[in-house]
This record gives sequence, structure tokens and C-alpha cells, in this order.
Amino acid sequence: MSILITNIKELLQVRETNITIVKGKDMKILPILKNAYVLIEHDTIVEFGSMDDFESLEADEIIDAKGKIVMPAWCDSHTHIVYAGDRTQEFVDRINGLSYEDIANRGGGILNSAETLQNTTEDSLYEQAAKRLTKVIKLGTGAIEIKSGYGLTIEAELKMLRVIKRLKHEFPISIKPTLLAAHAIPKEFTNNKNGFIDLVVNEMIPAVAKEHLADYIDVFCEKGYFDLEDTERVLKAGIKYGMTPKIHVNQFNAFGGVALGVKHNALSVDHLEELTDDDISVLKTSHTMPVALPSCSYFLSIPYTPGRQIIDAGLPLALATDYNPGSTPSGNMNFVVSTACIKMKLTPEEAINAATINGAYAMGISNNYGSICRGKKANLIITKAIPSYYHLPYAFGDNLIETVIINGQKF
Ligand code: NIG
Ligand code: FE
Repeated sequence: MSILITNIKELLQVRETNITIVKGKDMKILPILKNAYVLIEHDTIVEFGSMDDFESLEADEIIDAKGKIVMPAWCDSHTHIVYAGDRTQEFVDRINGLSYEDIANRGGGILNSAETLQNTTEDSLYEQAAKRLTKVIKLGTGAIEIKSGYGLTIEAELKMLRVIKRLKHEFPISIKPTLLAAHAIPKEFTNNKNGFIDLVVNEMIPAVAKEHLADYIDVFCEKGYFDLEDTERVLKAGIKYGMTPKIHVNQFNAFGGVALGVKHNALSVDHLEELTDDDISVLKTSHTMPVALPSCSYFLSIPYTPGRQIIDAGLPLALATDYNPGSTPSGNMNFVVSTACIKMKLTPEEAINAATINGAYAMGISNNYGSICRGKKANLIITKAIPSYYHLPYAFGDNLIETVIINGQKF
């Protein structure tokens, strides 16, 4: 099967050589080919170029993209899309004055989702997650990371991770699974946090590793959840079983989680709504990707990650959704890109780099995803006819996507 896309108004993120990350000033550069074509064979981008140099290539299907933009599909490196039910009541409670913290303190929040998930069958959990995944692929997501963390028991965490494995099997997009064993302290362990960490380290991580269900190990490193010592114990145990750290840090408080992540070669440190100069300095010494989640800031009305400061310090930045029932019930990367431009003052070029190639880096897959490059996976977005790619962030809330191609096939 081959597809030829012709007359492309703007082909975005075209790379002659296979770069895997963009940092600092380079994030302002988004290479573009105007009046272009792309040839896909099977699941791979095999050729692209200017229509001026076009020598009638053969293909099973030809798509005329006159007036349209073609670009790599979004790479969403941080989600929790496997969950049961929703938390709409807590949403209304927050409108009426309770904070996210108040809700967690009265036993709601993550514990509320965990209770619902524990009482949900694996099949029902799969169906609910599959609907969300279908929806986000139609919104242009072509690679995604999915975390566990609403199980909080060995059985329920395994159930979540098996659902992720089944999604991987049933869907054409690249899915990277993460074990977020230490997401909240379960009620049974309220006065015995170390007992829960023992369970995570001695039983949960080995059980997950035995079934090869997770590539990454995550911890919610935050006041009232897991401190630096807890986080380090869990990361070390995960590393011992071959899982790379990729952690939640600095959502509400900055107290050294970034440095801890860097010390353990975290692939990414995510959230960073609170960020210190020391955090920036330590990131400069690392290969760790800082990840911002602007729709979480939007939904919880908390500060936005200082993305401008991060990029201006010469660092890379990735953008992801954080799709989850409590802090971000949205998996729309188009909204994330708009919000990063509007609220974090990223330029459209920086935001698109952050949501494609750097998102792929934060999942360890930027060799194959995140740019238009010969030999890379054919995961593409074709927009509707629009005046320019600036409209992607500018026309926030509009769905400007016409076609999504995943692994060389229309989704
Ligand atoms: O990334 N902060 C921790 N975990 C999720 C939200 C968890 C929840 O409220 O369900 C997040 O925002
Ligand atoms: Fe998260």
C-alpha cells in the first residue's frame, strides 16, 4: 500500500537528517517546505520534496492537499487515559470553592478514581480507554505514553497495565507504558506510608517486570504524596528491573525532585509548574526532557510551567496533555499547543517542536517519530484548508484536522 500526498501548501517539521531533540534557540526553527509532496510506502515516509521537482511518482492512492498543511502527528508523552468513570462531582466542588488539595484531603481525588477502578472489570476498563484513545487519534495524536496509577493494589495496577498492553495490540499507534505505582497513599496505608513503599518496591515492581508490562517508572513526587526519600526508593527499584524514570515533579511544590530525577537519568521530568533556578541549572547538566502540561494548569487554575524561561536557558521542552480524570479531562494536543502559545508565550514553531519531536524524545521514540524524515514512521496530520500553520494555535478550540494517517493508513 502506498499513498502520495501532493500540492501540500506547507509541509512542516521536514528534516533532511534524523534529529531526535531540539533545544533552546533551535526550538524557534521549524523547517517548512512549501508546495510539497510526500510519498508513503507501507508504514514509512520514503520521499518528500517540492512539487517543482516532482517526477510523477506512482502510488495506490493520491491525496490532493491543495491549501492544506501536512505535519507529523502529535507525540503525547504524558497521559493517564486508562481510568474508570469520571470526577465530574469534584469538578463542580472545585467551582464551588474547594481546592484540589481539599478534595484529596477528604479522601477524594486519586483515591476516588482508584476505588472506581478497583470495582471495574478489565473489559469495561478497556472499552472506556479505547474510546478515549480513538478520540485522541482523530485529534491528531500518533504516539502516546500511558501510565498506570489508579490501581494502587498489585492486582489493580496489573489490570491497568494489561489494558494498556491490549490497547497496544489493538491500535496502530505507538504506545509506551509506564508504571506509576506510587501515585497516592492508599487508605489502608494512611499511617503506614513506608509499608506501601515496601509493597511497591518488593512486590508491585517485580510483578509488573515479570509480565514485561512497563518501560518506565513514575512517582508523584509531591508534598502530601511521596517525598524525595520515597521517590528515590521507588526509582531505584524500577531501575533495577530495567524501567527508566519519568516522573511527576514540581506540580505544587519545588523541593529537589528535579535534581533527583536527573541524578537517576530520568528520561523526563513532568509538570514543573513550580520551578527554581537550581532546577534549571541541574537540567542543563542532563539529558532529561522537561515536560509542560498546560491543559492541567488551565483546568486547575494553577501557574503555567515557565516554558519561556526553560527554552531561553537553552533547554529543550516537550508539551503533553496529562489526560486524566482529575486534573486534565482532555487529551487534545491541539488545545495544548494553542495554550502553550497563548499562556506560556511559546512561538508556534517552539510549540510544534515541543509537541512533535521533543514529545517523541520524552517517550524514547524520536528515532522513528516526530518529524517528516525519510525512513521515519508515516504518522501524519493533514489539516483542512487553512491560511497558514499559525492557525493551529491561533484558532484555538477549532478542529482544523481533516485526515490522520497512522503507520501509512488513514485512521
Ligand atoms: O498528573 N499529579 C498527579 N497525577 C495526575 C492527576 C491525578 C488525578 O487527579 O487523578 C496529574 O495531574
Ligand atoms: Fe500526570
